[in-house]
Amino acid sequence: MLKKILIMASGNGSNFENIVKKLENQVDIELFTENKSAYVIQRAEKLKVKTHIIDFKSFSRDEYDDELYNFLKKQTPELIVLAGYMKILSPKIVDNFKIINIHPSLLPAFPGINSIKKAYDYGVKITGVTVHWVDRVVDTGKIIEQKSVKIENSTTFQKLEKKIHEIEHEIYPCVLKKLLGL
Ligand code: GAR
Repeated sequence: MLKKILIMASGNGSNFENIVKKLENQVDIELFTENKSAYVIQRAEKLKVKTHIIDFKSFSRDEYDDELYNFLKKQTPELIVLAGYMKILSPKIVDNFKIINIHPSLLPAFPGINSIKKAYDYGVKITGVTVHWVDRVVDTGKIIEQKSVKIENSTTFQKLEKKIHEIEHEIYPCVLKKLLGL
């Protein structure tokens, strides 16, 4: 029987689609989103991936955390894979599940949101992508993999953004394969 992973995504879903395309037939993948208008839902439909939605806006924060915890308990995925999931997970969830995240900077530099832009505007000469375990504090968990990208004087923000996504699409499936023993 294939191992099951749950990908959690809030928006565009390019990492989700890339993982599905690279790992289908090797692992059983389902999608979770808290955003019922996320584009990732359309990607999942096309790829015939089962989607679970808990609408963040329909609950108080505590209710949402409970709903999500109960849902995850029922799902029992081998691994939870955050791919542009933009909500903070509750301590109870973080403490009870194996969760990894991909982040578009070389952590611990530029945690949080808009990290590609923050790195670009800061003027760093090297930035990159980090895959890490998720712990109770945002973007501080143990690092699993990192890959750097050089920012040349001629690098525009758009070029950098494209390169960062290319690197994400290259390394996330590789990390997953290693962690899942595929
Ligand atoms: C990715 O760049 C991912 O690293 C980032 O959101 C983007 C999602 O893109 N995540 C974070 O910034 C988490 N702090 P996608 O929806 O096209 O996969």
